[in-house]
Amino acid sequence: MDKFVIQGGVKLSGDVTISGAKNSLLALMPATILSPGEFIFDNTPDLRDVNTMSRLLQVMGMGVSLSGKRLHIDSSTINKYEAPYEQVKKMRASIYVLGPLLARYGEARVSLPGGCAWGPRPVNYHIEGMKKLGADISIEHGYIIAKAKKLKGTRISFDTPSVGATGNILMAAALADGTTLIENAAMEPEINQLAQFLKKMGAKIHGIGTKRLEVDGVEELKPANLATIPDRIEAGTFLAAGAISGGAITIKNCIPDHLSAVLSKLEQAGCTITVERSSIKLESPEALEPVSLATDVYPGFPTDMQAQWIALMCRAAGTSVITDSIFVDRFKHVPELNRLGANINVEENVAVVRGSVNLKGAKVMSTDLRASASLILAGLVAEGETEVLRVYHIDRGYESIEKKLQKLGAQIERVKTEEF
Ligand code: EPZ
Repeated sequence: MDKFVIQGGVKLSGDVTISGAKNSLLALMPATILSPGEFIFDNTPDLRDVNTMSRLLQVMGMGVSLSGKRLHIDSSTINKYEAPYEQVKKMRASIYVLGPLLARYGEARVSLPGGCAWGPRPVNYHIEGMKKLGADISIEHGYIIAKAKKLKGTRISFDTPSVGATGNILMAAALADGTTLIENAAMEPEINQLAQFLKKMGAKIHGIGTKRLEVDGVEELKPANLATIPDRIEAGTFLAAGAISGGAITIKNCIPDHLSAVLSKLEQAGCTITVERSSIKLESPEALEPVSLATDVYPGFPTDMQAQWIALMCRAAGTSVITDSIFVDRFKHVPELNRLGANINVEENVAVVRGSVNLKGAKVMSTDLRASASLILAGLVAEGETEVLRVYHIDRGYESIEKKLQKLGAQIERVKTEEF
């Protein structure tokens, strides 16, 4: 078990290179099930979640290996159409194998993912969508048991856009008979990259980047190679680190367009943002302005940046109100931030953050990936020493975060510990 020990008070400076996007790769890797053959993904980050997905595909018989930033997948040796509980309990994105298995092999047995650290994470949109595509689905002993001779194109309209369900249904529809219309589809860059990848494999998809996707099913797909887009949430997290520390940093290898909602909020908070083609420079103001916001689906302010924004607003000169409209109970980081001296009150899905507090170092507990990020941000400015426990959460989605922060001048060390 590792913990991070952070000495607060350093103004970050310098530049940091962003790694490949976790949430893109977690959809791209299962897409290889759709066509037997060899695939190469470049710009692959070394993350726990990527390793978990690799392990799942290996358990299904596929060849998966990572050398440096290059991920090799050989889907031709697949011999099991099941995602067992042991794998799925570690990462709910394992459900992404459901659509490709049904489309290519006509059967799938996928463990229900259950909840996550901050609450229930239903998968009804995934199940309903597969049923509408013609699959027979039953839920037995905690598993989704799905069968389909041949999926049939249909019209699927989401009440609210779902990233995972859009991805799963896109992959299933690619090999269905006829046309599938997905309305109110997610438009996150990671889903757009998945759609582009499927097109590279031979899928016929129209409307990429819009809420209305049309998929004309084809007989078969072929392997393809791709470089994963940079991780916009990692980029946003480092921008927040620069801002909370009062420093000036540049993030490289990012796609500024993917961050426009975050950049405009940082500017409203008083930061000076300079955008180049694939880099963003942030200069902090003397004092941060409080900026209220509500998370939204892309291109709105991402829920995956909500915890980091709450940490940042602890330093603002005034009160801000942050609403999470996507996950109404994603506030496990708040009690831990309050242990550092923050003054945050949560009612339902609304956090009221009283700023201008001087955070004081303490031992705090990570509960989930983005909550851990917010605790590290707070530790960067808390007076004295902060220990962030259970950093395995952060290793799920940030590649060597402590090394990247050290390069920016932060005093942060990874320490082995028996503490849990
Ligand atoms: C993806 O999760 C991301 N994970 C999450 O990132 C991200 O927070 C989320 O999208 C929202 O952007 C991956 O891409 C692997 P949703 P996903 O389906 O697909 C409800 C991180 O930190 N819903 O878009 O599970 C759901 O409860 C992770 O990197 C249903 O009701 O999210 C939520 O309120 C955390 N039924 C809303 O839709 C369903 O069947 C959006 O969820 C599915 C979702």
